[in-house]
This record gives sequence, C-alpha cells and structure tokens, in this order.
Amino acid sequence: MNDDQVYNLIGEEGFRRLIRAFYSQVPGDDILGPMYPPEDLAGAEQRLTDFLIFRFGGPPRYIEERGHPRLRMRHLPFAIGQAARDRWVANMDRALDEAQLPAEAAQVLRTFFAEIATFMINRDER
Ligand code: HEM
Repeated sequence: MNDDQVYNLIGEEGFRRLIRAFYSQVPGDDILGPMYPPEDLAGAEQRLTDFLIFRFGGPPRYIEERGHPRLRMRHLPFAIGQAARDRWVANMDRALDEAQLPAEAAQVLRTFFAEIATFMINRDER
C-alpha cells in the first residue's frame, strides 16, 4: 500500500485513535514525559495527528496551521539521543498494537515511524 492510501483506509478516526493511544503513555514515561509540555499535551496530540493526516493523504490542516513541517529543525530544542528515539518508537509500536488498524496501514506506519524517529536523533548520547 502506498502512503497516500493510508488516510482513505483508516480515516481521521484511525489516526486519532492511534495518537491518543501514543500520548496516553507520555505523562507516565520517565524519558518522554519531561520533554512534552504538560499544559499543552492536547495541543501536541492535535499537532501530531494533523501532521500524519496530511502526510498520509488526508486534508492539509497541519500545513495551514503550522506551515512547512521542518520536523528535524522543530525537534532540535529537545535532546533526542538513542534512548529517547527507542522509547518513542516502542511507545508508538504499543499504540499501533492497541489501535488495531488494518494490517497494511499499520505496517506502512510502523516503518515510517521507525525511520523518521532515527532521523530525529540530534544528540550523540544514549
Ligand atoms: C525520536 C523521538 C521523538 C521525540 C523524543 C519527540 C519529541 C517531540 C516533542 C517534545 C515535541 C513537542 C510537542 C508539541 O508541543 O507539539 C514534538 C513535536 C512534534 N513531533 Fe516529535 N518526537 C520524536 C519523534 C517524532 C517522529 C518520528 C515524528 C513523525 C512521525 C514526530 C512528529 C512531531 C510533530 C509533527 C510535532 C509537532 C511539530 C510542530 O508543529 O510544532 N516526532 N516531538
């Protein structure tokens, strides 16, 4: 399945379910919890959801509200070493299991998250 077909298959509802499952783990996470804004977790959830909807063939609400993604640049303020990257991916893998999306969509997303997360590493540390 190619990237643009994921939105058609799982819709806004599928992305919402997935990203809610991801962010529900954030506050209690010893590595990721302190990195995210506690007073605006709902906003963070919305931004990631909108980004994915745009990236996988849905409406470009993310671009309208946030402009060009520049994801690596936007992550530079956060110290992302191997351990943070691995934790983020592990939490997202768990969210993917929990959301029970159609297998073809889940596989495309799993591969995408693992690759982009590696690309976000910006510190030479564990
Ligand atoms: C590698 C581990 C990662 C860490 C530790 C991390 C951490 C963060 C943090 C702390 C924020 C700020 C929360 C907010 O207020 O929006 C953020 C924003 C964001 N992240 Fe990540 N992230 C990681 C990987 C990823 C990946 C793989 C993606 C893409 C699938 C991604 C997409 C985004 C997006 C779209 C935003 C909002 C950017 C904006 O519009 O300001 N992140 N991330």
